[in-house]
Amino acid sequence: MTAKRVLILNGPNLNLLGQREPEIYGHTTLADIRNSCAAFAREKGWSLDFRQSNHEGELVTWIQEARGSADALIINPAAYTHTSVAILDALAMLEIPIIEIHLSNIHRREAFRHHSYVSTVAAGVIAGFGAGGYLLALEALSGM
Ligand code: DQA
Repeated sequence: MTAKRVLILNGPNLNLLGQREPEIYGHTTLADIRNSCAAFAREKGWSLDFRQSNHEGELVTWIQEARGSADALIINPAAYTHTSVAILDALAMLEIPIIEIHLSNIHRREAFRHHSYVSTVAAGVIAGFGAGGYLLALEALSGM
């Protein structure tokens, strides 16, 4: 298994995980998730860049910068999943595996969450497994 440079991006409001609607998103904070992802990456000998932004344009810039600097992208686009053609267009330029993740099962929720622009360019989608979904995504990358 070759070393991978993995970029994990998180969209708006995920900075408040742990406080934000815990009955939906759980009690785990984004810092906790970052730590468990970092431990997984360390174990594998991969490098990990883990970021969060509340700004669509900043996420677009980071996705553009991933061209040439990342070997795989895991993204929880949060609300932009359902709205952002700009994020979709940026992702479409990447030639690396993209895994879309959501803490909640978006298909079990309101109808407006059922459509994802991002899924059209994702290698796979993980939704509904809470914070553990990030590790499932990293595990999936192990085989890619
Ligand atoms: C989310 C689901 C989205 O619908 C929502 O807007 C989020 C979080 C999730 O991880 O379950 O902010 O992406």
